[in-house]
Amino acid sequence: MDKVKVGIIGCGNISCRYFKMLREVYNNILELQACADLDLARAKAKAAENPGGPGVPGVKAMTVKKLLADPEIKIVVNLTIPQAHYKVAMKVLKAGKHLYGEKPLTITRAQGKKLLALAKAKNLLVGNAPDTFMGGSIQTCRKLIDDGVIGEPVAATAFMMCRGHERWHPDPEFFYQVGGGPMFDMGPYYLTALVTLLGPVKRVTGSARISFPTRTITSAKKNGTLVPVEVPTHVTGIMDFANGAVGTIITSFDVWAHTLPCIQIHGSKASLEVPDPNEFGGVVKICKAGETEWNEVKLTHVADIGRGTGVADMAYSILRPGRPHRANGELAFHVLDLMHAFHDASAKGKHVIVKSSCERPPAVPSGLAKGELDK
Ligand SMILES: NC(=O)c1ccc[n+]([C@@H]2O[C@H](COP(=O)([O-])OP(=O)(O)OC[C@H]3O[C@@H](n4cnc5c(N)ncnc54)[C@H](O)[C@@H]3O)[C@@H](O)[C@H]2O)c1
Repeated sequence: MDKVKVGIIGCGNISCRYFKMLREVYNNILELQACADLDLARAKAKAAENPGGPGVPGVKAMTVKKLLADPEIKIVVNLTIPQAHYKVAMKVLKAGKHLYGEKPLTITRAQGKKLLALAKAKNLLVGNAPDTFMGGSIQTCRKLIDDGVIGEPVAATAFMMCRGHERWHPDPEFFYQVGGGPMFDMGPYYLTALVTLLGPVKRVTGSARISFPTRTITSAKKNGTLVPVEVPTHVTGIMDFANGAVGTIITSFDVWAHTLPCIQIHGSKASLEVPDPNEFGGVVKICKAGETEWNEVKLTHVADIGRGTGVADMAYSILRPGRPHRANGELAFHVLDLMHAFHDASAKGKHVIVKSSCERPPAVPSGLAKGELDK
């Protein structure tokens, strides 16, 4: 099969996961050819860490301009910080490349709309993280729901609470700037999982607050540096799904400890525990009507995959036009719209009708081998 050539822009903290997955698991469909960064030294360091090996060519470091001008590169993966996503993404599309970006899609809804419109006009695909929902745990949950095992979905809860990323990330400023905050940073994992499992959301409300006006970085490089907080750091939301289920979500960078589960879906016949949607695997549990114990469910899908699965899935759709790809721009835009809607509802003190919608991404078939995405 032809391989789709890929370039990465943004060689920071998360990029190593993409380098590994694209070169080790999806090298049957993808060839990671080049990497670039505003800081060329970072790109060079990543390229040096990724030399050629059996069946895998080495990655070449170059400037963003040179990468975008390379006619062989068909997909550009945008791993820059949220505030640069839109600017870099538009350059990628204008250069005639398919785009796969890290979350969030963009900062504003208007940017997201412009980006999707340009891609459509140029007949290019837009994919966006997270792709964790394509992992074994969430796909197993999806199959249980689609097979009717939990009955009619009634309610969902989603909790992501921690004390912020300034304790471990070397450059955590962007988590407290516009485009950051717990909802824009971590919400995409939880909301994308919920939309995959239950479908789109039609109405939300929410409450949000900035609990602390500054944060102190305690990770090594910038230990002691103060970061001003521009965005709410504790965000709660209520969602009315189009299928009738009612969801509750809390995302917070203000909580030292808690014992709440990541995601639970409650149906007319059973309750389902969905593990951490920031991961591709984890333990799925079910408690059926009349039972008192939760029981582990054996995963029906491959779980030891990682970030970059959505890029490979998009590559199959480039080679087979008309095949839908799962971590797609419409899904990412709906999630972006929801994240804004919680903040808008809080600011306005009322429910917000969600204007966007999307299809549930196609389920991954069960029983595939690692690296396969279709039967
Ligand atoms: N760090 C994580 O654990 C993690 C996990 C999942 C997703 N993400 C997402 O991945 C993205 C990147 O996060 P990160 O933690 O790797 O950030 P980072 O700050 O470590 O790296 C970002 C890189 O992008 C480069 N960059 C910034 N603006 C650029 C531009 N205009 N052109 C070219 N390069 C530019 C920076 O020089 C830097 O090397 C974010 O959207 C984040 O939400 C991060």
